[in-house]
Amino acid sequence: MTNATPREDWFASAGGPLRGELQVPGDKSVSHRAIMLAALADGTSRIEGFLEGEDTRATAAIFERMGVRIEVPEASTRVVHGVGIDGLQAASSALDCGNAGTGMRLLAGLLSGQRFDSVLTGDGSLSRRPMRRVLDPLARMGASIAAHDGFPPLKIAGAQALRGISYSSEIASAQVKSAVLLAGLYAKGDTEVREPHPTRDYTERMLRAFGWPIEFSPGVARLRGGHRLRATDVSVPADFSSAAFFLVAASVIPGSDIVLRGVGMNPRRTGLLRVLRAMGAHVDIEAMGEQGGEAVADLHVRHAPLHGIDVPVDAVPDMIDEFPALFVAAACASGATRVRGAAELRVKESDRIATMSCGLRSMGIAVEETEDGATIHGGALHGGHVVSHGDHRVAMAFAIAGQVSSGEVQICDTANVATSFPAFDQLARSAGFALRAD
Ligand code: S3P
Repeated sequence: MTNATPREDWFASAGGPLRGELQVPGDKSVSHRAIMLAALADGTSRIEGFLEGEDTRATAAIFERMGVRIEVPEASTRVVHGVGIDGLQAASSALDCGNAGTGMRLLAGLLSGQRFDSVLTGDGSLSRRPMRRVLDPLARMGASIAAHDGFPPLKIAGAQALRGISYSSEIASAQVKSAVLLAGLYAKGDTEVREPHPTRDYTERMLRAFGWPIEFSPGVARLRGGHRLRATDVSVPADFSSAAFFLVAASVIPGSDIVLRGVGMNPRRTGLLRVLRAMGAHVDIEAMGEQGGEAVADLHVRHAPLHGIDVPVDAVPDMIDEFPALFVAAACASGATRVRGAAELRVKESDRIATMSCGLRSMGIAVEETEDGATIHGGALHGGHVVSHGDHRVAMAFAIAGQVSSGEVQICDTANVATSFPAFDQLARSAGFALRAD
C-alpha cells in the first residue's frame, strides 16, 4: 500500500476573468483501457493523448511488471508492444493500483482469467473503496478472489476455469461492467452485462476497435471468450471530467470567455453540460468532430448567471464524476439546487456528498445533506479552510470556489490532483485563476 504522497496545500482567492484557449489532458477512462487492451493485443499499438496522471501511469507500470514493453517516445504518447491475450507473466510481488478504482476493478476482471496468481493493492483511499460489486459477479464466473471483507488488497488466484454469465448489475457502473467483460474474454461461452442505466461504453468500443467481436447497445453488452485482440492505434480525447472544472469556472467568474479544445463528448459523460445549460450556463458546442472513434468538440464557455434546479435523476450516471464541480456551480447559483439518486458519490475517492457539503458550509453556503444527495442553497462565498480528503476532484472544485469568494480559501491535501489532472494549477493560473501552491 502506498501512502507517501506529499500533502500540498493550495491558496485560492478572487481571480479571473478567465480567457483563452485551453487544452486539458487526455481522458482517464480511455487511457486506462487503451493500455490494457494494447498490452493484450498481438502487435504494437501507439497511444496518443495518453493521460500522464498517476492513476494511468500506475496501470501502465502494472503491465510492464507483467512483461509488457511500453515505450515513451514523448510525453502523452505510449508505444505498447502487446504480448497477446495469453502472454502476460506473473509479477514478482503485489501490483500497486495507487488511487485508481478503475485500474483495480478492471484488473480484477482481467487478472481473474490469467494462469498465474496476482495481488492488487492501492493507497489509503482505494483501500477503503468497496470491491464486492466486482467480486460477486466475478465469483459467479468461477473467479477466486480473496479480499478483506470486500476491500483491497485483492488476492486473485490464477488458473481458474471461467464461464460466461448473464449479469444484471444493480448499480450503474462502467467499472463493474468492464470487469465482467474483461473476465469474459477468458471465459467459456457468452458473457452478458445489463445495467440499470447505460454507463460509459469505452470498454465495448475499444474491444471492437481492437478486433474483438462484441455486441452492445445502451445498457447491455455481450461478448464471447476465445478470440484475439489486434493491435491498433488509439487517439485519446481530452477528458470531459477535467474540462468540467473550467466549464463551471468560466460560467461563474464574471467576464470569462474561454474555449476548451478537443473535449471528449461521449454522451455517457456529458450530463453536466445538460445540467449547467438548464441552470442558465452559456456553452456553445463548436467544431464537433470525431477522434479515434469518439465524438470530440470545442466548448466555448462564457460567464452567465446561474439559477438552481432539481438535477434530473436520469442525468446522474452521465455526470457521476462532475458533482464536486456541480456543487460549486450550485453554490454560485441563485436559489436551491437539489441532487437526488447519487448515493454512489459516497464511495468515490472520498465521500463526495460529505466532503463537498462540509467544505461549502465552511465557506458560508447552506447545504442540507441526504443519504443520496444534497440541497445546496446558492449564496455568497467567503474565505476559509477546506479539506479535500485526498480527493483530486474535491480539491479542484474548491479552487474554483476560491475564485468567487470574498476572502482567501486554503485547500488542504491537494497532491492527489496529479492522479487525474497533473499541472491543473498551472493551466488554471494561465487562464486567470488566482491560485498558489505551498
Ligand atoms: C469509470 C467509471 C466511473 C467513474 C470513474 C471512471 C471508468 O466509476 O466514476 O471515475 O473508467 O469506468 P463507476 O463505475 O464506479 O461509476
